[in-house]
Amino acid sequence: MKGTITGLLIVCGFALFLVSGLSAEDQPDATALFKKNCAMCHKADGKGYAAMHTPDFTDKEWQASKKDEELIESITNGKKDKGTMPAFDKKLSPDEIKLLVTDVVRKFAE
Ligand code: HEC
Repeated sequence: MKGTITGLLIVCGFALFLVSGLSAEDQPDATALFKKNCAMCHKADGKGYAAMHTPDFTDKEWQASKKDEELIESITNGKKDKGTMPAFDKKLSPDEIKLLVTDVVRKFAE
């Protein structure tokens, strides 16, 4: 009896492991996307580089001055006021861009 329960637990644990592994693949990993596509200009910690004119994502005032839609628009179509923020509409899906704003850019100021 004890062996059966242990066996069941192992099977359940393995099933959970499989399910979590699969769902992690379904959802794009926003942090990895940021490291790959954005960190070279925005720095891994989001503070940016003065010489590149990238904004400091850890600045709460900067965050408060921007709406999610504005940031999504800038990432999708690019922005060329101070420096050159490239457009990512061909490289990333709308879902990935939204996730980068809500899960990465916004989180730098928390
Ligand atoms: C080649 C360098 C470069 C890369 C790569 C880059 N950025 Fe930028 N980004 C900039 C610059 C420069 C600005 C400032 C543009 C301005 O204010 O005119 C900027 C601005 C922004 C802003 C603020 C937009 C606004 O409306 O004020 C966000 C958000 C942003 N980038 C996110 C990202 C994300 C997410 C990625 C990766 C998918 C990325 N950037 C990749 C250079 C870059």
